[in-house]
Amino acid sequence: KRVGILISGRGSNMVSLAQAAQAPDFPAEIALVLSNVPGAGGLERAREFGIATATVDHRAFNKDREAFERAMDEVLRVNQIEFVVLAGFMRIMTSWFVRRWEGRMINIHPSLLPLFKGTHTHRQALEAGMTEHGCSVHFVVPELDAGPVIAQAKVPVLPGDDEESLATRVLAQEHTLYPRALAEVASGRVALVDGVIARR
Ligand code: GRF
Repeated sequence: KRVGILISGRGSNMVSLAQAAQAPDFPAEIALVLSNVPGAGGLERAREFGIATATVDHRAFNKDREAFERAMDEVLRVNQIEFVVLAGFMRIMTSWFVRRWEGRMINIHPSLLPLFKGTHTHRQALEAGMTEHGCSVHFVVPELDAGPVIAQAKVPVLPGDDEESLATRVLAQEHTLYPRALAEVASGRVALVDGVIARR
């Protein structure tokens, strides 16, 4: 499967996926890294792997979200992308894009969904007094952070944790969880069928 990874920043999850995809038996090829932010750090990291990169600057579409998404979609089509992976992609997608890619687009969210949707998830977990936290890989559906969950990884919340220490612990889990989850979906072992997770 030709996979396109969408990023907005440093791309640490993209790097983990690119490393995993170098294994000869990995069921997906990272064929493109696309950023909505020109000069995002992850673009240089992708080039180091020899992965094609592209930038579609959302600011160039003066708030017309769908026009921005159509431009991204054209780049994905030109690169014959079959599956989209959101990795630190910080734009909310409209249902136009999500419907086109439903069942072929996944995201990683730094919480144990359905807990703590949205942003500042580590702060939310600390403020809620959680003793455990983690990350979730899910299919993307029009409702934000609400898609069926493919896989999760848990970490303890330790006394003295602050947002940074907790985020660091969660991110380390993301880097092992995401490649495993992508392999499950790209191999067809896991799929989204009629809105629910189907496992073979
Ligand atoms: C991280 O907070 C991660 O939890 C979330 O997006 C942010 C940046 O990730 N997925 P990355 O380093 O750009 O992959």
